[in-house]
Amino acid sequence: EVPRLAAAYADYFRIGAAVEPDQLEGPAAELLKRHVNWLVAENAMKPDAMEPAEGSFTWERADRIVDFAKENGMELRFHTLVWHSQTPDWFFRDEAGGAMVDETDPSRREANKKLLLKRLDSFVTTVVSRYKQDITSWDVVNEVIEPGDPDGMRASNWYKITGTGFIETAFRAARKAGGPDIKLYINDYNTEDPVKRDILYGLVKDMLEKGVPIDGVGHQTHINLEYPATERIIESLELFHTLGLDNQITELDMSLYVYNDLSDVGPEVPGDILQRQAERYGELFAALRARKELLSGVMFWGIADDHTWLSTFPVARTEAPLLFDRQHQPKPAFQAVTGF
Ligand code: XIL
Repeated sequence: EVPRLAAAYADYFRIGAAVEPDQLEGPAAELLKRHVNWLVAENAMKPDAMEPAEGSFTWERADRIVDFAKENGMELRFHTLVWHSQTPDWFFRDEAGGAMVDETDPSRREANKKLLLKRLDSFVTTVVSRYKQDITSWDVVNEVIEPGDPDGMRASNWYKITGTGFIETAFRAARKAGGPDIKLYINDYNTEDPVKRDILYGLVKDMLEKGVPIDGVGHQTHINLEYPATERIIESLELFHTLGLDNQITELDMSLYVYNDLSDVGPEVPGDILQRQAERYGELFAALRARKELLSGVMFWGIADDHTWLSTFPVARTEAPLLFDRQHQPKPAFQAVTGF
């Protein structure tokens, strides 16, 4: 009898997986019901999925995930209210249809900024109001730090047009619409990297000092076999914990592929490599269990190796980043994570 993953972690933190609506029936649904108590939409709750044209919201796919979670007693994360990617272009067009970001007239720039922040406020208010009863943790902004860009802030349309105003507006609108009970996160990748982590820390600290309602940091944690991130991950969780914030690991996977070109090995990953992955996963989860006060959940970005964002056939088989294989059987990594 295979242990149930989330049950094994009942005394520690939630365990979840990212899903597409079409995975909520059939074998993937059975695997999810058995092993996780937390879900996030892999794509169905991104801005382009929620409000593809201004004023016209599409809820159907997102609602299916919410309904499935409720039927099965699972909690939900929301991903994501604000991002530079998967966001419709209408947000960034001025009233004449021109690209706001090309505007050079200072007075028009000011007007554009106001208009964009108004659109953002209205988007956040509508979406949060709809799901505030059903979704506990919210990614309010995603991937706003970019160490290579000026000020360490990603030079997205959002940043170019509003500065850090979009971050402030998004968090304040989410709190106003959602009330004190929903938890609001700033989410990013490579948050274990000391340079990026410190920029993020500076931003969050500034925002908190201004009274911006940030409850926690979401750490995507897309790691790989050759990147021994465990110590750095814990250090980063500790750092944000000192600010009184929660942490969640929001998109965990561990690719085998990045520095190991396995594209010629066929669908079966060699046993010794699966074993190394198991050891790494085991170390990471042992470290997280030992410091469980630092975080409230670990979300995998997918459930089994037949469906992962990292790559698609023919190479998906060699990424094999999750705890279950392409046939939905537990891998050595699953044993390592649950065998304690
Ligand atoms: C990915 C999805 O998994 C893909 O299906 C989609 O094509 C692109 O986005 N960081 C994030 C997630 O915050 O939203 C991304 O999800 C993966 C990287």
